[in-house]
Amino acid sequence: MTPPRSDALVLFGSTGDLAAKKLYPALHAMVRRGQLDIPVICLGRSGWTLEDLTNRVRESIERHGGGVDEAAFARLAGLLRYLDGDYNSPEFFAMLAKSLRGTERPLYYLAIPPSAFPNVVNGLASCGRTGHARVVLEKPFGRDLASARSLNGTLHDAFPEESIFRIDHYLGKEAVLNVLTFRFANTFLEPIWNRNYVDSVQITMAESFGVEGRGRFYEEAGAIRDVVQNHLLQVVGFLAMEPMTMRYRESLRDEVGKVLRAVRPLECGDLVRGQFVGYRQEKGVAADSNVETFAAARLWIDSWRWHGVPFFLRAGKCLKTTATEVLVRLKQPPVQDLAGSTPNHVRLRLSPDVVIALGTRVKAHGDTFATESQELSLMRQPSGDEMGAYERLLGDAIEGDPLLFARQDSVERAWEIVEPLLGGATPLHPYWPGSWGPTEAERLPLAIGGWHDPA
Ligand code: BG6
Repeated sequence: MTPPRSDALVLFGSTGDLAAKKLYPALHAMVRRGQLDIPVICLGRSGWTLEDLTNRVRESIERHGGGVDEAAFARLAGLLRYLDGDYNSPEFFAMLAKSLRGTERPLYYLAIPPSAFPNVVNGLASCGRTGHARVVLEKPFGRDLASARSLNGTLHDAFPEESIFRIDHYLGKEAVLNVLTFRFANTFLEPIWNRNYVDSVQITMAESFGVEGRGRFYEEAGAIRDVVQNHLLQVVGFLAMEPMTMRYRESLRDEVGKVLRAVRPLECGDLVRGQFVGYRQEKGVAADSNVETFAAARLWIDSWRWHGVPFFLRAGKCLKTTATEVLVRLKQPPVQDLAGSTPNHVRLRLSPDVVIALGTRVKAHGDTFATESQELSLMRQPSGDEMGAYERLLGDAIEGDPLLFARQDSVERAWEIVEPLLGGATPLHPYWPGSWGPTEAERLPLAIGGWHDPA
């Protein structure tokens, strides 16, 4: 049975960074595609008016949404409402309840710090507006296993599980979904996608920029909580899972959950942490901060398919380039007379553009038996007009479809995997902006010939 659509979107944190960078451009795109026609009630604590909000929405679409489509913007502006007040006060929630009159199924989007979640959830419950409602939360869901469980308890006091949408925008990315298509819509891949043929898997999420004014947030998060526990482990899930079936909706999330359960919790020797030189001078950052802006890890999946195949993950700010890429290296042929030195690979570039390529050896021109590397490009899509992750996921939440949202069991398991390394348990190595992180990270994949650095 199709769940009913939400009939209002209520945005907590509408004056913040996430709303400006991701949510308003997504709403604009949804209106343009004819997918948004419900009131958008924006809430903030900045003393704004509706006019201030509308100006901010326009500016954010200009800067982050690829330009304003005037007709779509006019329609979006017609849906906007703004309420200003204190999320801790019962009067504020009474005012919200009043503005929700005539709606039955609001969708609450909490684009606010996790520490503010309990008050907001309690406020919504006490003004009687949680029944039939849905709630979307931004990652990280908690700071560790214990706080993730306690957050879940708070949410469950007011909302049933099917009304809770934990957003990890990586799951809504076209290129990440394409990992599933590539794996399960082709026959040629499955026979080699296992420990018999795969030598190692690497995932690099590199960003050439720093924390961009989010120093305070980053001090609480660090690279492990910000992207490894969620985005990168979800990508591991898609790369390593068993085939899903479309016969029942939870199959995808069940399979990802099974992979994460088979991942061994990380140990200190599996991790290298780094911090870029200059981070401690960022606004909101402690002068003696021990927070990592770079993390590289080696993990193992104790399953029949992946036993003995190392997965290397690397994420960092202020690295040489901005790109997220997966490299699956295959084993060398058993007799190497013609093989040359580079093994075959499958390269999946997830951003900024989308690429699927196969690394092969072919005959070099001239010499009788000499070979050279050639990449066979299967797919190349410039970044641009695909459906954005937030657009897709907001649309799904409004429709009540949880498929591409993180499920609590996977969230908890992901915390269990990284938990031994939280709290600065390992040394922190400085690195220069514009590099590939601390040189200490090079030791992790030494046995497989080193990191693959995305171009
Ligand atoms: C966010 C992190 O979840 O993902 C950011 O908080 C990171 O630190 C961002 O920059 C990367 O996502 P995207 O889609 O912009 O590559």
